[in-house]
Amino acid sequence: MNYKTILITGGAGFIGSNLALNLIRDFSGTKVICLDNLQRKGSELNLPRLKKAGIKFIRGDVRNKQELDLVKTFDLLIECSAECSVMAGYDNPLANLIDTNLYGAVNCLEAARQRKADFVFLSTSRVYPIKELRLINLREEDDNFKCLPQQSIRGVSEKGISEDFPLEGSRSFYGASKLSAEIILKEYVHGFGLRAIVNRCSVMAGPWQLGKVDQGFLALWVARHIYCGSLSYIGYSGKQVRDVLHVDDLYDLLLLQLKDIDKYSAQVFNVGGTIDNAVSLRQLTELCRKVTKKKIDLGFIDQIREQDIPYYVSDCTRIERLSGFKPKRNLETIVCDTAQWVFDNKNTLEKIFK
Ligand SMILES: NC(=O)c1ccc[n+]([C@@H]2O[C@H](COP(=O)([O-])OP(=O)(O)OC[C@H]3O[C@@H](n4cnc5c(N)ncnc54)[C@H](O)[C@@H]3O)[C@@H](O)[C@H]2O)c1
Repeated sequence: MNYKTILITGGAGFIGSNLALNLIRDFSGTKVICLDNLQRKGSELNLPRLKKAGIKFIRGDVRNKQELDLVKTFDLLIECSAECSVMAGYDNPLANLIDTNLYGAVNCLEAARQRKADFVFLSTSRVYPIKELRLINLREEDDNFKCLPQQSIRGVSEKGISEDFPLEGSRSFYGASKLSAEIILKEYVHGFGLRAIVNRCSVMAGPWQLGKVDQGFLALWVARHIYCGSLSYIGYSGKQVRDVLHVDDLYDLLLLQLKDIDKYSAQVFNVGGTIDNAVSLRQLTELCRKVTKKKIDLGFIDQIREQDIPYYVSDCTRIERLSGFKPKRNLETIVCDTAQWVFDNKNTLEKIFK
């Protein structure tokens, strides 16, 4: 990897800080700078980790061009800042969500263009429309849903949802803001020759994810078991399924992409744990009980909200074919690593998870 200075926006967040720390560990000749406005509760907990590793931190906001300009030179920008919740924005879509996820991303694109830097955008599986995802043909089993081989919508198979899934429809403000940023990114690629990759991530998980009910459910599930807190399934009897990717697997993929960015630039990839790491909430509860050796009673809220979907599993065939990438860490490893992190930081994390 040939980058001299990497700017990670949202660099105090879960993914941004993990990527930053892995990069500085593996590339001693590379300078890593993290910029974050610390809006996400708990992101400040990552600051001592970044500092200890020699990573420069700038408290700054991607909505503010001048704050991005505090970083005079960089040759790669990894855009990890976002208001990440699918439930966000319904009180006031502009205040944080569209401002950060769309205008902030455009500011990042512009900063990269001005410096002739490469660009990685962490998009989301939530760009796919909700109504259409709900039409996927599923079989209900005792503790999960399975995707059937016969489907009437393109881009769906037993392997999950591919990039060919239709994009027409409504997808939440979160999904819409990310898709809009993807569309603008494409214009930067074609209009200015920016080299840029879009990774549509499903559920990312692992240590240092400060999970909450509407985002980062795996860490929340693990931690609430450890603290003997409360948890509830919301809708679908807890059978809703997602695929989960360890943040270190995301890092491994990123390295493959950055070693040969021309091969991946201007393309969109579904990135996730694939069908091999697909899990329902009920199954996750069982895994948490096994790993943490704690059992808590789960509540059930009989409600399906506008943004809820019963099933999303990434079909990652496109990126797998191009890069050979396959996730190395299975679900049990993800849960064990997350549990170990909570055990090791039990007092500090209490205010976040309890
Ligand atoms: N974690 C996942 O499961 C997941 C799944 C799909 C996509 N993604 C995408 O990956 C990226 C990183 O997600 P994450 O899980 O690390 O989330 P996170 O909330 O842990 O990190 C995002 C960081 O961005 C910061 N931030 C928010 N608004 C900002 C602003 N205006 N200016 C500067 N910083 C700001 C927050 O303080 C936070 O530290 C996001 O773009 C998200 O949409 C994440």
